Amino acid sequence: MTKENVRPIGVFDSGVGGLSVLRQLSSDYPGESFIYLGDTARLPYGTKSSNTIIKYAQRNLNYLLETFNIKALVVACNSVSTVINHIDSPVPVFGVIKPGAKTAIESSTEGEQIGLWATQATVLSGAYQTEVSLLQKDRKIQMVSCPTLVSLVEEGLNKHPLLPMAFEYYFEKFENKVDVLILGCTHFPFFKDKLSETFPKLKLIDSSTSLSKELREQLDLNSEPNSSSKTKILLTDEAPNFIDFIQKIFKNNFETEKVDII
Ligand code: DGL
Repeated sequence: MTKENVRPIGVFDSGVGGLSVLRQLSSDYPGESFIYLGDTARLPYGTKSSNTIIKYAQRNLNYLLETFNIKALVVACNSVSTVINHIDSPVPVFGVIKPGAKTAIESSTEGEQIGLWATQATVLSGAYQTEVSLLQKDRKIQMVSCPTLVSLVEEGLNKHPLLPMAFEYYFEKFENKVDVLILGCTHFPFFKDKLSETFPKLKLIDSSTSLSKELREQLDLNSEPNSSSKTKILLTDEAPNFIDFIQKIFKNNFETEKVDII
Protein backbone atom coordinates (compact mmCIF):
# COMPACT_ATOMS: atom_id res chain seq x y z
CA MET A 1 0.00 0.00 0.00
CA THR A 2 1.34 3.45 -0.88
CA LYS A 3 1.79 6.15 1.77
CA GLU A 4 -1.04 8.08 0.12
CA ASN A 5 -3.45 5.18 0.79
CA VAL A 6 -2.61 5.18 4.48
CA ARG A 7 -3.58 8.84 4.96
CA PRO A 8 -7.20 9.17 6.17
CA ILE A 9 -10.04 11.02 4.47
CA GLY A 10 -11.55 13.80 6.58
CA VAL A 11 -15.35 14.08 6.69
CA PHE A 12 -17.17 16.78 8.60
CA ASP A 13 -20.59 18.16 9.46
CA SER A 14 -22.08 20.18 12.30
CA GLY A 15 -23.54 17.05 13.91
CA VAL A 16 -24.88 13.58 13.09
CA GLY A 17 -26.01 14.46 9.53
CA GLY A 18 -22.69 13.74 7.84
CA LEU A 19 -22.84 10.19 9.20
CA SER A 20 -25.26 9.49 6.32
CA VAL A 21 -22.37 10.29 3.97
CA LEU A 22 -19.78 8.47 6.07
CA ARG A 23 -22.00 5.35 6.04
CA GLN A 24 -21.95 5.34 2.22
CA LEU A 25 -18.21 6.03 1.92
CA SER A 26 -17.12 3.49 4.51
CA SER A 27 -19.29 0.85 2.85
CA ASP A 28 -17.91 1.63 -0.65
CA TYR A 29 -14.28 1.95 0.51
CA PRO A 30 -13.72 -0.43 3.43
CA GLY A 31 -9.97 -0.26 2.83
CA GLU A 32 -9.83 3.48 3.62
CA SER A 33 -9.48 5.21 6.99
CA PHE A 34 -11.85 8.05 7.88
CA ILE A 35 -11.74 10.81 10.47
CA TYR A 36 -15.25 12.17 11.09
CA LEU A 37 -15.60 15.52 12.80
CA GLY A 38 -18.98 16.54 14.24
CA ASP A 39 -18.79 20.19 15.26
CA THR A 40 -21.43 19.70 17.96
CA ALA A 41 -20.21 22.77 19.89
CA ARG A 42 -21.33 25.04 17.06
CA LEU A 43 -24.38 23.15 15.73
CA PRO A 44 -26.55 24.20 13.91
CA TYR A 45 -24.63 25.64 10.97
CA GLY A 46 -27.69 26.10 8.77
CA THR A 47 -28.95 29.18 10.63
CA LYS A 48 -25.57 30.97 10.48
CA SER A 49 -24.31 33.55 7.96
CA SER A 50 -22.04 32.45 5.14
CA ASN A 51 -19.06 34.31 6.68
CA THR A 52 -19.45 32.40 9.92
CA ILE A 53 -19.84 29.09 8.08
CA ILE A 54 -16.66 29.78 6.05
CA LYS A 55 -14.75 30.53 9.28
CA TYR A 56 -15.90 27.28 10.95
CA ALA A 57 -15.18 25.23 7.82
CA GLN A 58 -11.68 26.63 7.39
CA ARG A 59 -10.86 26.01 11.02
CA ASN A 60 -12.14 22.42 10.85
CA LEU A 61 -10.11 21.74 7.71
CA ASN A 62 -6.92 23.23 9.18
CA TYR A 63 -7.35 21.09 12.28
CA LEU A 64 -7.86 17.87 10.26
CA LEU A 65 -4.83 18.66 8.09
CA GLU A 66 -2.49 19.52 10.96
CA THR A 67 -3.58 16.73 13.28
CA PHE A 68 -4.32 13.86 10.88
CA ASN A 69 -2.64 14.82 7.60
CA ILE A 70 -5.85 14.01 5.72
CA LYS A 71 -5.47 13.34 1.99
CA ALA A 72 -8.90 14.76 1.03
CA LEU A 73 -11.84 16.46 2.70
CA VAL A 74 -15.49 15.52 2.26
CA VAL A 75 -17.75 18.36 3.34
CA ALA A 76 -20.69 16.21 4.45
CA CYS A 77 -22.84 19.27 5.01
CA ASN A 78 -24.91 21.13 2.44
CA SER A 79 -24.72 24.43 4.32
CA VAL A 80 -20.91 24.32 4.12
CA SER A 81 -20.94 22.99 0.55
CA THR A 82 -22.58 26.30 -0.50
CA VAL A 83 -19.32 28.12 0.40
CA ILE A 84 -16.90 25.44 -0.72
CA ASN A 85 -15.15 27.80 -3.17
CA HIS A 86 -14.13 30.03 -0.27
CA ILE A 87 -12.27 27.26 1.56
CA ASP A 88 -8.53 27.35 1.13
CA SER A 89 -7.15 23.83 0.86
CA PRO A 90 -3.98 22.05 -0.27
CA VAL A 91 -5.94 18.76 -0.57
CA PRO A 92 -9.01 18.03 -2.75
CA VAL A 93 -12.32 19.13 -1.20
CA PHE A 94 -15.63 17.46 -2.17
CA GLY A 95 -19.07 18.90 -1.43
CA VAL A 96 -22.56 17.39 -1.55
CA ILE A 97 -24.49 19.92 -3.65
CA LYS A 98 -23.14 19.16 -7.13
CA PRO A 99 -23.71 15.40 -6.77
CA GLY A 100 -27.19 16.05 -5.29
CA ALA A 101 -28.22 18.31 -8.18
CA LYS A 102 -26.85 15.81 -10.70
CA THR A 103 -28.80 12.93 -9.14
CA ALA A 104 -32.00 15.02 -9.11
CA ILE A 105 -31.71 15.76 -12.82
CA GLU A 106 -30.80 12.18 -13.72
CA SER A 107 -33.69 10.78 -11.66
CA SER A 108 -36.47 13.06 -12.93
CA THR A 109 -38.31 13.54 -16.19
CA GLU A 110 -38.55 17.08 -17.57
CA GLY A 111 -42.23 17.47 -16.63
CA GLU A 112 -41.68 16.56 -12.98
CA GLN A 113 -41.51 19.28 -10.34
CA ILE A 114 -38.34 19.25 -8.22
CA GLY A 115 -38.45 20.47 -4.63
CA LEU A 116 -35.67 21.04 -2.12
CA TRP A 117 -35.76 20.71 1.65
CA ALA A 118 -32.66 22.20 3.22
CA THR A 119 -31.37 24.56 5.89
CA GLN A 120 -31.92 28.29 5.67
CA ALA A 121 -28.26 28.83 4.67
CA THR A 122 -28.57 26.38 1.77
CA VAL A 123 -31.89 27.81 0.57
CA LEU A 124 -30.67 31.43 0.76
CA SER A 125 -27.47 30.59 -1.14
CA GLY A 126 -29.45 29.39 -4.18
CA ALA A 127 -26.62 26.88 -4.74
CA TYR A 128 -28.91 23.99 -5.79
CA GLN A 129 -30.72 26.18 -8.34
CA THR A 130 -27.31 27.27 -9.74
CA GLU A 131 -26.10 23.68 -10.12
CA VAL A 132 -29.41 22.48 -11.57
CA SER A 133 -29.42 25.36 -14.10
CA LEU A 134 -25.90 24.43 -15.20
CA LEU A 135 -27.20 20.95 -16.04
CA GLN A 136 -30.59 22.03 -17.47
CA LYS A 137 -30.79 25.72 -18.27
CA ASP A 138 -34.48 26.45 -17.70
CA ARG A 139 -35.18 23.93 -14.97
CA LYS A 140 -36.56 25.59 -11.83
CA ILE A 141 -36.64 24.08 -8.38
CA GLN A 142 -38.85 25.06 -5.42
CA MET A 143 -37.03 25.53 -2.12
CA VAL A 144 -38.20 25.32 1.49
CA SER A 145 -36.03 25.62 4.60
CA CYS A 146 -36.80 23.12 7.37
CA PRO A 147 -34.67 23.81 10.47
CA THR A 148 -36.96 21.81 12.78
CA LEU A 149 -36.22 18.63 10.84
CA VAL A 150 -32.50 19.03 11.70
CA SER A 151 -33.34 19.26 15.42
CA LEU A 152 -35.60 16.21 15.29
CA VAL A 153 -32.84 14.09 13.74
CA GLU A 154 -30.24 15.43 16.20
CA GLU A 155 -32.56 14.28 18.99
CA GLY A 156 -32.62 10.78 17.50
CA LEU A 157 -36.32 11.09 16.51
CA ASN A 158 -35.79 10.01 12.90
CA LYS A 159 -38.44 7.29 13.14
CA HIS A 160 -40.75 9.06 15.60
CA PRO A 161 -44.56 9.37 15.02
CA LEU A 162 -44.13 13.16 15.33
CA LEU A 163 -42.31 13.29 12.00
CA PRO A 164 -45.24 12.91 9.54
CA MET A 165 -46.81 16.08 10.98
CA ALA A 166 -43.60 18.01 10.39
CA PHE A 167 -43.36 16.50 6.87
CA GLU A 168 -46.90 17.63 6.01
CA TYR A 169 -46.17 21.09 7.41
CA TYR A 170 -43.05 21.62 5.27
CA PHE A 171 -44.54 19.92 2.22
CA GLU A 172 -47.47 22.34 2.18
CA LYS A 173 -45.00 25.21 1.91
CA PHE A 174 -44.22 24.27 -1.70
CA GLU A 175 -46.20 26.48 -4.07
CA ASN A 176 -46.82 23.59 -6.47
CA LYS A 177 -46.93 19.92 -5.62
CA VAL A 178 -43.47 18.38 -6.03
CA ASP A 179 -42.73 14.94 -7.52
CA VAL A 180 -39.04 14.75 -6.71
CA LEU A 181 -37.60 15.92 -3.40
CA ILE A 182 -33.92 16.70 -2.90
CA LEU A 183 -32.88 15.90 0.68
CA GLY A 184 -30.64 18.96 0.75
CA CYS A 185 -29.40 18.48 4.29
CA THR A 186 -27.30 15.48 5.24
CA HIS A 187 -29.46 14.95 8.34
CA PHE A 188 -32.49 14.12 6.18
CA PRO A 189 -31.58 10.71 4.68
CA PHE A 190 -32.00 9.36 8.21
CA PHE A 191 -35.78 9.77 7.98
CA LYS A 192 -36.08 8.47 4.41
CA ASP A 193 -38.15 5.43 5.47
CA LYS A 194 -40.64 7.51 7.43
CA LEU A 195 -40.87 10.03 4.58
CA SER A 196 -41.57 7.29 2.01
CA GLU A 197 -44.32 5.94 4.29
CA THR A 198 -45.88 9.43 4.42
CA PHE A 199 -45.50 10.22 0.70
CA PRO A 200 -45.13 6.86 -1.09
CA LYS A 201 -45.04 8.39 -4.60
CA LEU A 202 -42.38 11.00 -3.88
CA LYS A 203 -38.92 10.35 -5.37
CA LEU A 204 -36.25 11.07 -2.77
CA ILE A 205 -32.81 12.34 -3.77
CA ASP A 206 -29.78 11.85 -1.60
CA SER A 207 -26.32 12.90 -2.79
CA SER A 208 -24.17 10.22 -1.13
CA THR A 209 -24.06 7.62 -3.93
CA SER A 210 -23.13 10.14 -6.58
CA LEU A 211 -20.62 11.83 -4.24
CA SER A 212 -19.00 8.46 -3.60
CA LYS A 213 -18.62 7.89 -7.37
CA GLU A 214 -17.03 11.32 -7.74
CA LEU A 215 -14.44 10.38 -5.12
CA ARG A 216 -13.68 7.14 -6.96
CA GLU A 217 -13.10 9.08 -10.18
CA GLN A 218 -10.75 11.58 -8.60
CA LEU A 219 -8.86 9.69 -5.90
CA ASP A 220 -7.06 6.38 -5.89
CA LEU A 221 -9.29 4.63 -3.33
CA ASN A 222 -9.09 1.24 -1.75
CA SER A 223 -12.31 -0.82 -2.08
CA GLU A 224 -10.84 -4.00 -0.58
CA PRO A 225 -11.22 -4.45 3.19
CA ASN A 226 -7.96 -3.86 4.98
CA SER A 227 -7.13 -4.66 8.59
CA SER A 228 -5.26 -1.39 9.18
CA SER A 229 -8.11 0.88 8.04
CA LYS A 230 -10.04 2.56 10.84
CA THR A 231 -12.72 5.16 11.47
CA LYS A 232 -12.42 7.66 14.25
CA ILE A 233 -15.13 10.08 15.35
CA LEU A 234 -14.28 13.46 16.85
CA LEU A 235 -16.79 15.76 18.55
CA THR A 236 -16.24 19.34 19.63
CA ASP A 237 -18.70 19.02 22.52
CA GLU A 238 -20.23 16.27 24.64
CA ALA A 239 -23.16 14.78 22.73
CA PRO A 240 -24.76 11.68 24.32
CA ASN A 241 -27.35 11.42 21.50
CA PHE A 242 -24.55 11.30 19.01
CA ILE A 243 -23.00 8.22 20.57
CA ASP A 244 -26.40 6.43 20.56
CA PHE A 245 -26.83 7.38 16.93
CA ILE A 246 -23.46 5.96 15.91
CA GLN A 247 -24.21 2.67 17.61
CA LYS A 248 -27.57 2.42 15.84
CA ILE A 249 -26.20 3.18 12.39
CA PHE A 250 -22.88 1.43 12.35
CA LYS A 251 -23.73 -1.30 14.88
CA ASN A 252 -20.21 -0.76 16.01
CA ASN A 253 -18.46 1.08 18.80
CA PHE A 254 -16.26 3.52 16.99
CA GLU A 255 -13.59 5.26 18.95
CA THR A 256 -14.91 8.75 19.77
CA GLU A 257 -12.96 11.63 21.21
CA LYS A 258 -13.81 15.12 22.37
CA VAL A 259 -11.54 17.74 20.79
CA ASP A 260 -11.18 21.50 21.11
CA ILE A 261 -11.04 23.43 17.89
CA ILE A 262 -10.55 27.15 18.41
N1 DGL B 1 -26.27 18.64 7.98
C1 DGL B 1 -26.11 20.00 7.63
C2 DGL B 1 -26.44 20.30 6.18
O1 DGL B 1 -26.39 19.42 5.36
C3 DGL B 1 -26.48 21.11 8.52
C4 DGL B 1 -27.38 21.03 9.67
C5 DGL B 1 -27.17 22.26 10.53
O2 DGL B 1 -26.15 22.30 11.21
O3 DGL B 1 -28.01 23.19 10.45
O4 DGL B 1 -26.70 21.44 5.83
